[in-house]
Amino acid sequence: MRGLSSNAGWFKSRVVKRLQSWFSTFIYSERLQARGWRQFNRELLKECRQLQEFDDEGRNWSKKNYPGGYTSYGSLDKIHHMSSTFMELGQRIQRHANRFANALDWDLGGHELSLTDCWVNIMPFRTIHSLHLHPLSVISGTYYVVTPRRCSGLKFEDPRLACFMAAPPRINDPRPPNQQFVTYPAEAGKVILFESWLRHEVPASQVQSERISISFNFNWA
Ligand code: NI
Repeated sequence: MRGLSSNAGWFKSRVVKRLQSWFSTFIYSERLQARGWRQFNRELLKECRQLQEFDDEGRNWSKKNYPGGYTSYGSLDKIHHMSSTFMELGQRIQRHANRFANALDWDLGGHELSLTDCWVNIMPFRTIHSLHLHPLSVISGTYYVVTPRRCSGLKFEDPRLACFMAAPPRINDPRPPNQQFVTYPAEAGKVILFESWLRHEVPASQVQSERISISFNFNWA
């Protein structure tokens, strides 16, 4: 008679052969560069602070739309056209975006991905960025400049949630392809890319120090 463990092994091997995952959702995360990112982040941080200081319109916009924090999304969302440091960041991120597009097997028909929007987010204690997606873009993402210990990560939602209807809930610790949410930690020096239709949020910050990131969109027209 088979013991439980050998049964489990037999079951697993058959299931692995029979079961394949389709219609996957990919998220890309990687260091922006192997070396020198700390110095680069110091330059970016300086410019983020300057922007926050002189962007009156953005601070007003943030009061209504990003309570407690500052984002240049509503005022200056093409910083890569204003600053050579941000333009450089855009070029470095573009290399990752191209890799991601290749991994997605995209045929861009001779076009290239182009950075269309780039803006700053400064998130203090309790500021939240609720669930959203990025319309009129194909790849979006975030680059992390300052990430205090235990700051909020980037939480993604299964894009099929609305289709589940009467599906039973998941067990506590489902296999990764069956998770309905996944949170990527925010880590300074790292870039995270995703397809722009994928809903995501930044839960309320639980730490006192500010979390600073730069978000962006790519299009391919
Ligand atoms: Ni976003």
